[in-house]
Amino acid sequence: MFNLGDRVALVTGSSRGIGKAIAIKLSEAGASVVTHDSSGNAETISGQLRLNGKQSIACVANVSSSVEVNAMIDRVMETFGRIDILVNNAGIIRDQLLLRMTDEEWDSVLDVNLKSVFFCTRAVIKHMLKQRYGRIINISSVVGLTGNVGQANYASAKAGILGFTRSIAREVAPRGITVNAIAPGFIVTEMTQHLTEEQKTEIISRIPLGYLGAPDDVANAVAFLASEEAAYITGQVLSVDGGMRMA
Ligand SMILES: NC(=O)c1ccc[n+]([C@@H]2O[C@H](COP(=O)([O-])OP(=O)(O)OC[C@H]3O[C@@H](n4cnc5c(N)ncnc54)[C@H](O)[C@@H]3O)[C@@H](O)[C@H]2O)c1
Repeated sequence: MFNLGDRVALVTGSSRGIGKAIAIKLSEAGASVVTHDSSGNAETISGQLRLNGKQSIACVANVSSSVEVNAMIDRVMETFGRIDILVNNAGIIRDQLLLRMTDEEWDSVLDVNLKSVFFCTRAVIKHMLKQRYGRIINISSVVGLTGNVGQANYASAKAGILGFTRSIAREVAPRGITVNAIAPGFIVTEMTQHLTEEQKTEIISRIPLGYLGAPDDVANAVAFLASEEAAYITGQVLSVDGGMRMA
């Protein structure tokens, strides 16, 4: 287990699924964790973390609103006085074939998956620059690397995250801040529960390890990238996909 004692972490979209697993893992490693979602459900997770003796607050904000994101970061700074780890995890899908894709399906997916990463990173970076320390971990997707039928909006957003990650990694490297991305494959959460058994069988046939991932598989990789042990890693994309896409 990595030691994140004294660190303050914000995990966006941590009321369930992968974000929830990341929040629990970082808390277990000793970090004070700010949980978050857009509807107030993250308070349940923060309550659990506090019951385990760890510090945690829950924030409510729509990550596609810069006003709400800035207010959330102000609250984190007022509460803890610093922010060391940002995990940009919140995301949605609105799958549709291109011919039928509406402006709203395009815009909402780009706003929640990509613009949010810009808003949250911009809001925390001034504090990390002053601290001369920071760890930013962006949750992309295997789909951002390979593309996928019916997911032109999602794949564009997730590929955009990779360009953003590499650019900001270069910008802030001299100040002790690392910026990396994780590209999960297919992970069992509410986001993937709409898949039919037939689709799951087809997907599993393309995964060398032969099974779908669990939220903890991603959370373990986040804990590593957030740790001191990953200090010399920046601008990278770590695939957590059972070998689905081998570079
Ligand atoms: N599940 C997978 O197979 C998989 C694979 C690759 C990448 N990912 C990515 O991992 C991340 C988490 O996925 P998940 O499967 O846990 O999804 P999920 O749907 O279970 O959880 C998404 C979280 O984001 C929050 N959220 C959604 N829209 C928001 C908004 N506008 N403002 C604030 N919060 C918002 C939700 O409240 C929830 O907490 C996403 O970025 C997703 O794209 C998931």
